[in-house]
Amino acid sequence: MSAANIGRARARAGTNIALVKYWGKRDTALNLPAAGSLSLTLAELGTETQVTFFPRTDTQQQDIVLLGGKPVDEKFRTRVSVFLDRVRNRARLDATALVESHNSVPTASGLASSASGFAALAVAASQAAGLRLDDRKLSELARLGSGSAARSICAGLALMSAGQASDGHDAVAAPIVGAEDWPLRLVIAITSSAEKPLSSTVAMIQTEKTSPYYPAWVDSVDADLKAACAAIAARDFHDLGRIAERSCLRMHASALAADPGILFFNSATVAAIDTVRTLRLDGVPVYFTIDAGPHVKALCLAQDADRIEKKLATTPGVLRTMVTGPGPGTELLTTTP
Ligand code: PMV
Repeated sequence: MSAANIGRARARAGTNIALVKYWGKRDTALNLPAAGSLSLTLAELGTETQVTFFPRTDTQQQDIVLLGGKPVDEKFRTRVSVFLDRVRNRARLDATALVESHNSVPTASGLASSASGFAALAVAASQAAGLRLDDRKLSELARLGSGSAARSICAGLALMSAGQASDGHDAVAAPIVGAEDWPLRLVIAITSSAEKPLSSTVAMIQTEKTSPYYPAWVDSVDADLKAACAAIAARDFHDLGRIAERSCLRMHASALAADPGILFFNSATVAAIDTVRTLRLDGVPVYFTIDAGPHVKALCLAQDADRIEKKLATTPGVLRTMVTGPGPGTELLTTTP
């Protein structure tokens, strides 16, 4: 593309891990969640994205999407283009885009690269298109790319509302006041290098349509959110951990009961769960959570992270471990003009 660019912006977002899970949609097209959720935005793991809009030319009509310097597959390129169309429509911009993204999260591994990816894209694309959106509007926009991305706009602990409006303007995330001074850590145990076989959306829809446990799961979320917010306000780590572990297991139970049943765990996942529970029996305050993939994330306090990482690193089947903690919300790095 040789034509002068119309607008360019670069943004960064950290990924986030839900402590009270989002699993199920009240509207699939708008990614409206069936219930709220609560998450921790992470420091080191994230996505940096630059969006450049150019005038469309006869030879370059399609958006170009590069991840780690390489073109993404057509399915993902289309998903990004559909997202960009929403931004272009709002900005009344007829332009093609070059999207250059770099992940510090293994892509599609269950480590929520779509959360940081669409949060960074929402900030960079809206800025490059000349829109000036506040965090609430950015959260709403990011949600349209991926439900969990709405939470990555916020720093640290964030509460996502299910909302009630059919246009989704109230299905947004907001930071939980006062959580920044709590030294939480997540020790991540990577248990597979394969891409996940089933996307979160496909697995959610299969759960909604076929799992007899799905209504019970959705009904249980509000009480968990209330209890988790109370635990955060009281800085009660044990309570928060207990709620996070049960939310994770209930989410997976609803998916397991789908037809056909959805199982994200591998044998190393189960071994890592066992390590976390054994450490707890030994008096270490640590709780696990697991997303739509086989990796285990152990929630703990900063002073225990090294010890927990050592145990997880030597758990059979665990490929590698990393320690991360609360991170900032999305950051706009550069913008022109
Ligand atoms: O944002 P999605 O569509 O990738 O869904 C995320 C679902 C979970 O990671 C399993 C749970 C969550 O709340 O992040």
